[in-house]
Amino acid sequence: MIVLGIDTSCDDTSAAVVADGRSVLSNVVHSQVRSHRPHGGVVPELASREHVKNIMPVVREALAGADLGTGDLDGIAVTVGPGLVGSLLVGLYYAKGLSCVRGIPMAAVNHLEGHILSIFLEDELPAFPFVCLAVSGGHSSLYHVSGYGRYALLGQTLDDAAGEAFDKVAKILGLGYPGGRVIEEMAREGRKDKIHFPRAFLSKDSLDFSFSGLKTAVALYIKKWRESREEQATVSIADIAASFQESVIDVLVKKSIKAREITGAPSMVVAGGVACNNHLRNCMTEAFSPLGVQVYFSRPEYCTDNGAMIALAGYHRLLHGEHADLSVDVRSKFPIQALAPLEE
Ligand code: KG4
Ligand code: ZN
Repeated sequence: MIVLGIDTSCDDTSAAVVADGRSVLSNVVHSQVRSHRPHGGVVPELASREHVKNIMPVVREALAGADLGTGDLDGIAVTVGPGLVGSLLVGLYYAKGLSCVRGIPMAAVNHLEGHILSIFLEDELPAFPFVCLAVSGGHSSLYHVSGYGRYALLGQTLDDAAGEAFDKVAKILGLGYPGGRVIEEMAREGRKDKIHFPRAFLSKDSLDFSFSGLKTAVALYIKKWRESREEQATVSIADIAASFQESVIDVLVKKSIKAREITGAPSMVVAGGVACNNHLRNCMTEAFSPLGVQVYFSRPEYCTDNGAMIALAGYHRLLHGEHADLSVDVRSKFPIQALAPLEE
């Protein structure tokens, strides 16, 4: 089954063609970073206008990259939420138009489900069940995943997402947008134990996250640092970046270990844009290998937003006979829906 996947949930216009939910024939991502950078973050109105401009060329490029035409498509998978409403609408209405005109079945996909399943685009696959740590600019969640469409939420952020904390701290440090990669690069030169920023573990067994206190602590420290020559002489911006990164990763790793312990799942998957972070990858692998637990990561282009993960998630919905009709609408908040069992 050949599926076109479309994602316009935030600031990337993405389209991909995937065969049988496994084989990526093309994966095109048009980043809007250059348009949003002068504003220090994503401007929703600007994002939707950019999607309108880019959706047709991006889909055309994805089809050309797969050497296919719309007549070859067996399905269209499109993100309907969660995300920015104005952005989601562009992808959804484009998909509805194509589905209607060409008579191609359409699947409405949850963006986070796409991130969770993105590992299945790789060659080395985890067996079910596994625990998934999904960390992006909009989410920090732990799920117990027992099959396609079978997700039990174990914990989630009560305020900021991990990627959002990276972006905000980078902004305060004047390192630009988006912040994750630049903080990681800066942190390589810094000492991670120079400042002990707070770690919010919440209650003892809680699998929820909270990063807003950390963000405030970093902001207050930077204010003090800027006013003190003495502090600046002993602590560098790289030290601040490394200490902040360490604090986020410490919490992500320890909560993941707890989630694994509670569920007894034999493997662990890390997904979402923050999973690009090499220090997180190393810390997760180091923490889990003594437990005999393998940690799986996608390649970076499947960690950040992409159409291939949406095509994959949509493929499984279409396979189960789940077709979205033209009344489907976008959802800014959207819990992942379970997949109905296959009819015999
Ligand atoms: O999954 P994604 O592309 O979009 C959302 O669904 O939000 O994730 C984007 C987020 C941004 O917050 C970005 O700063 C973060 O992922 N990110 C990173 C790194 N690369 C991207 N965070 C930490 N380290 C990185 N290397
Ligand atoms: Zn995402």
